[in-house]
Amino acid sequence: MFSFPSFYLITTTLLLLFTTIPLNKSQPFSPRLLDSILQEHAFQPLSGHRTKTGVIYSGNVPSNLTGTSIAALRLRSGSLRRRGYSKYNEFSIPKGVVVSPYVKRVILVYHNLGNWSSVYYPLKGYVYLSNVVGLLAYNASDVYAKELQELDVRVSGYPFVVKFKDLKDDLPHGSLPKCVFFDLFGGVEFEKLVNGSVCVSVNQGHFGVVVEDGLSRLNSSDRNPSTLVLIAGLYLLMQVSK
Ligand SMILES: *[C@@H]1O[C@H](CO)[C@@H](O)[C@H](O)[C@H]1NC(C)=O
Ligand SMILES: *[C@@H]1O[C@H](CO)[C@@H](O)[C@H](O)[C@H]1NC(C)=O
Ligand SMILES: *[C@@H]1O[C@H](CO)[C@@H](O)[C@H](O)[C@H]1NC(C)=O
Ligand SMILES: *[C@@H]1O[C@H](CO)[C@@H](O)[C@H](O)[C@H]1NC(C)=O
Ligand SMILES: *[C@@H]1O[C@H](CO)[C@@H](O)[C@H](O)[C@H]1NC(C)=O
Repeated sequence: MFSFPSFYLITTTLLLLFTTIPLNKSQPFSPRLLDSILQEHAFQPLSGHRTKTGVIYSGNVPSNLTGTSIAALRLRSGSLRRRGYSKYNEFSIPKGVVVSPYVKRVILVYHNLGNWSSVYYPLKGYVYLSNVVGLLAYNASDVYAKELQELDVRVSGYPFVVKFKDLKDDLPHGSLPKCVFFDLFGGVEFEKLVNGSVCVSVNQGHFGVVVEDGLSRLNSSDRNPSTLVLIAGLYLLMQVSK
């Protein structure tokens, strides 16, 4: 049991921590709002009369997003599961992919954020060697639908493979490129880059190749001020519990 003063200290430390950790909520360029805008625009070519299943349709982005590109691919979910889809721009979709809740057909929306990559997916301390690309799965039943929720996507066995073209290769000396993966809930993960230009994933979301920014590597202490607060807090706690 903590005595009263240490309880007070813990609370203060926690409060301090939560107020210093930078939150992305105030970010003016919301990736989720972008997903929603791009979903609506990517679906548009599929509203024509003779659109086909299994064909990639490229879409038009709104003029304030010039520089990004989008596409849509409609598949029966049975075909997605049995066969996958081997070449959807950078993506290879493995067989064994299951979406839930069950829908008869899915639309897989592709994003290439081009020069907007670091605007919507800023990563402090890193520079992008690729554009950020994304793949998101939706219910295909209503091609006029807006603000659709993504379907849940699960692989069984093989992962999604993302093969980047034209990686920037003017790397700072000794730097190690990595894959970065952004899920739909604000999570960020770094993974190993395979074969020089390939990222693998068991999830839908957005992908890029990054390298640590040489300058911020030397300046790592100013990259994460909350670490200092954490250390100070722990130190205080140790003093109190002595
Ligand atoms: C772009 O324009 C659309 C309307 O077409 C608007 O909803 C959206 O907020 C704008 N996006 C940006 C980043 O200005
Ligand atoms: C990206 O490039 C287009 C022109 O191709 C430009 O209109 C747009 O403002 C640029 N976006 C950013 C974030 O620089
Ligand atoms: C898919 O969309 C159709 C048409 O909007 C709707 O009736 C159906 O419930 C949706 N399915 C799921 C699983 O959301
Ligand atoms: C990496 O390259 C090897 C040899 O070419 C190949 O067998 C393997 O499938 C590649 N891995 C990925 C994830 O592309
Ligand atoms: C470290 O950061 C300071 C200020 O943020 C900057 O002036 C300095 O150039 C940086 N040092 C290196 C080696 O990047």
